[in-house]
Amino acid sequence: MAIYASFRSIGAYAPEKILSNSDLEKMVDTTDEWIVKRTGIKERRIADEHISTSDMGAMAANIAIERSGLGKEDIDLVICATVTPDYFNMPSTACIISDKIGISNVQAFDISAACSGFVYSLTIAKAFIESGMKKNVLVIGAEKFSSIVDYTDRSTCVLFGDGAGAAVISATTDKSEAFMDIHASADGSYADFLVTPAPGSVHPANQKMLDEKLNFVQMKGNETFKLAVKTLTKDVIDILETNSIDASEIKHFIPHQANYRIIKAVGDALGMREDQVVLTVQKYGNTSAASIPMAINDIYESGRLKEGELMLLDTFGGGLTWASALIPFAGKVK
Ligand code: UT7
Repeated sequence: MAIYASFRSIGAYAPEKILSNSDLEKMVDTTDEWIVKRTGIKERRIADEHISTSDMGAMAANIAIERSGLGKEDIDLVICATVTPDYFNMPSTACIISDKIGISNVQAFDISAACSGFVYSLTIAKAFIESGMKKNVLVIGAEKFSSIVDYTDRSTCVLFGDGAGAAVISATTDKSEAFMDIHASADGSYADFLVTPAPGSVHPANQKMLDEKLNFVQMKGNETFKLAVKTLTKDVIDILETNSIDASEIKHFIPHQANYRIIKAVGDALGMREDQVVLTVQKYGNTSAASIPMAINDIYESGRLKEGELMLLDTFGGGLTWASALIPFAGKVK
């Protein structure tokens, strides 16, 4: 009997501390009006100093496992997507999360695909499950993005926030619960569009790194914006066509939450109705790999996401990387 991957549960964690646009007005030369008009962001969450990416990931993971109805002993693979790991670069954040939530002796590793990391990790979970190697994969997207943001750089500091989301992906023989399709791709020729130059083998940690602020994220915002709209739209058209699905059949369009204007442009190009498009960018900003699972959790907790409903995920980020997925929600609703 064929084995499929199914999206069994979701959980998320958002830090309590809010960084509002008016707070940012006091830090850099910006205005609430500019930020809202250009990005749709009103506020973002910032983790306290003593909270790490793995702390947030562990909190999201515990919720996802509890909602899955499984025990921790049932999880046989842990994947964490992050570009703000606890440590550069070992041990992996997935190892630390596994320990914090009490899962031991299972395979655990991180994925680096920036904002596309969660959907990239879903492709891996699917492959492991469908090959019969694993049964229940814990997939986490977690970021303490504030740890790589220069809060004197107005072009980036208004955009990003912290948070985590997690999902349990399980084996099923019921085809109606199965991932319908998932695409992931990359083009490294645009690597300089979104980059954290140091520390790494190109620029090891040293005084120059600190003097030139190479440890902070740098982005060619406008170029990234244009490419994001084009790529996200094309990617969705491709996956819908391949699977003979009309945009109107999508219950929840859940795009990466980077900028409201990007989401609106893609949604309009696809003819999506407002009620189909999930939006959290206004309250969380761009949380990179955590953005999509936090958005799924948002509609789950508000009672909008029901068992069997079709989700269309679409993401784009540093690398450049992008990915899209057609997945029915196979979780039980609380
Ligand atoms: O998650 C991974 C993928 N990331 C993305 O998809 C992000 C894509 N990019 C964007 O969302 C947008 O490009 C931004 C929101 C970053 C910028 O919006 P934009 O419409 O592309 O603005 P721009 O970069 O072309 O800048 C326009 C002006 C510039 O001033 P001048 O040169 O026209 O005088 C900037 O200096 O806006 C200025 N500016 C700001 N002004 C007030 C840039 N940041 C700010 C700011 N407050 N925070």
